[in-house]
Amino acid sequence: MLTETVETMPLRTSDDVVRLRQAVRARAVAAGFGLVDQTKIVTAASEIGRNTIVYGGGGTLRIEVVRNGQRQGVRLTFEDQGPGIADIATALRDGYTTGSGLGLGLGGAKRLCNEFDIRSAPGQGTTITLTRWK
Ligand SMILES: Nc1ncnc2c1ncn2[C@@H]1O[C@H](COP(=O)(O)OP(=O)(O)OP(=O)(O)O)[C@@H](O)[C@H]1O
Ligand SMILES: [Mg+2]
Repeated sequence: MLTETVETMPLRTSDDVVRLRQAVRARAVAAGFGLVDQTKIVTAASEIGRNTIVYGGGGTLRIEVVRNGQRQGVRLTFEDQGPGIADIATALRDGYTTGSGLGLGLGGAKRLCNEFDIRSAPGQGTTITLTRWK
């Protein structure tokens, strides 16, 4: 797999979520995604980005346009140094929240992508990587 473009951005405020949505959509367009695929990855990105801000205390997003042979994709890596997630399987379950949300963000984002990986442990922060292929 080759990385063709890389961009990183901070995630601290709700304005950053607006910027994230614009940047992810622009990269999805550049990768040749149609409107439905653009919207899927933008929706997944805003859910995970919001979690980075709300639960992770802020962090960063790295956006990559990637290629595997003829296939183009968009890979997003969210990283924070927050409290981490003790039980990842439980956190992924629909309806599970420790905040005031619906508990649908993680599971929903996973379903909107082709690849989804969470690395997290208490005190170690959280890194979530997701990829959607065209
Ligand atoms: N970056 C993170 N750091 C620490 N805990 C997290 C992080 N992201 C998610 N979590 C934990 O996983 C739970 C589930 O996240 P999820 O996005 O599915 O639901 P939510 O954010 O609580 O609600 P919703 O996204 O539906 O508004 C959160 O309530 C939180 O406890
Ligand atoms: Mg959420």
